[in-house]
Amino acid sequence: MPVIEIRQASEHAGEEVTVQGWLYNLRESGKLLFPLIRDGTGIMQGVVSKGAVSPETFERVRDLTQESSLRATGRVRADARAPGGFELDISEVDVIQRIPPDRPYPITPKEHGIEFLMDHRHLWLRSSRQRAILGVRHEIIKACRDFFDDRGFTLVDAPIFTPAACEGTTTLFEVKYFDDKAYLTQSGQLYNEAAAAAVGKTYCFGPTFRAEKSKTRRHLTEFWMIEPEVAFAHLDDICALAEELVAFVVGRVLDRRRAELKTLGRDASKLEACILPFPRITYDEAVKILQTKGSGIQWGSDFGGTDETILSQQFNKPVVVTHYPGQVKAFYMAPDPQRPELALCVDMLAPEGYGEIIGGGERIADYDLLLRRIEENRLPREAFEWYLDLRRYGTVPHAGFGMGIERVVAWICGLDHVRETIPFPRMLYRLKP
Ligand code: 4AD
Ligand code: MG
Repeated sequence: MPVIEIRQASEHAGEEVTVQGWLYNLRESGKLLFPLIRDGTGIMQGVVSKGAVSPETFERVRDLTQESSLRATGRVRADARAPGGFELDISEVDVIQRIPPDRPYPITPKEHGIEFLMDHRHLWLRSSRQRAILGVRHEIIKACRDFFDDRGFTLVDAPIFTPAACEGTTTLFEVKYFDDKAYLTQSGQLYNEAAAAAVGKTYCFGPTFRAEKSKTRRHLTEFWMIEPEVAFAHLDDICALAEELVAFVVGRVLDRRRAELKTLGRDASKLEACILPFPRITYDEAVKILQTKGSGIQWGSDFGGTDETILSQQFNKPVVVTHYPGQVKAFYMAPDPQRPELALCVDMLAPEGYGEIIGGGERIADYDLLLRRIEENRLPREAFEWYLDLRRYGTVPHAGFGMGIERVVAWICGLDHVRETIPFPRMLYRLKP
């Protein structure tokens, strides 16, 4: 019998097929059994009629427990009332593993606490909601890659073991490296800058690590970042690139993942509003807005989580904030020639209170200034000699940014915490499963 995926059921109406998967649910009504089978591509209701199968087959299905694995053979029949629009009139069932009732599947349709679910993340991933999030995450990643690939960017992978900090020394994970030590990368940016001088437009995409001692709904210790870097680009160019990327990604999810958004109960109209142009404001303007909204922020300090939430609630689209004070940004940020106390940097905040999803800007291209910043930040010069080389040999203006995939998934899926946006989250108090 041909094995089909449940998502293809409509192409097999009237045919005899086999589906293979797991028992999602089982309902009994008189002489009929209704097993709900999921196979990762969809959910299909089977119908087992006492008169149509052998007594053994009927009992085998009746005895099935949640998440038991099986193959079911039968005829596909259109039924408007069925989930997915098609049912399987089952003639035979091959049980691969029946989970014994005295050791049942731990996650039942009843409510479980978040810690229990996180401890069983390896099983929790099978739920419809988690499957929908995985689907959207996949689509977002694919959209990012397509976006850059179609614009002539070359993917250049950055290393994970690094000799030095990129985003401040307080969030470095130190690891033993033979007789020496290394750090897990915080960002591929510095390597991207080398790659940009080789290929012009580059991006990297990989896991990044921050020893974040904060326990917030936005922070992971391991997260995935997509980071473009463009030679000869200035702040404006990179702002436009960031805006186009985000509009493209949202559009792609709306195009292809409506069903998942529906499963998640996401209000798609909020995403539909995210079309270009996005509002752009400066840090100065953002501080004024925050002060009128009751934030205690003073000019010169960085936005806290609450400030970001307030700011991103002021707009129904992502908002682009530029020109932060250099003192709150990383050592490599180029200063604004008009107001050197400001950095030529950009953060993008997602709407609905989601906060920062993108950070980036123009890099210092001048050798002397970069060296001064490395020294002012008490960074080990030796570890940055190669980075200084990029300013010794054919330096050019260049700019780039990083977009945290999990923050974007949280926003697009409408989740209140990043822990559900990544298959196996790593956080301050979570390193398992
Ligand atoms: O603003 P960040 O720290 O910027 C950089 O790392 C730059 N070097 C990137 C570049 O210019 N190439 O981080 C960029 C983005 C943030 O906007 C956020 O979306 C995400 O990475 N991010 C985190 N996501 C989850 N958990 C954390 N702890 C994160 N820290 C940053
Ligand atoms: Mg940032």
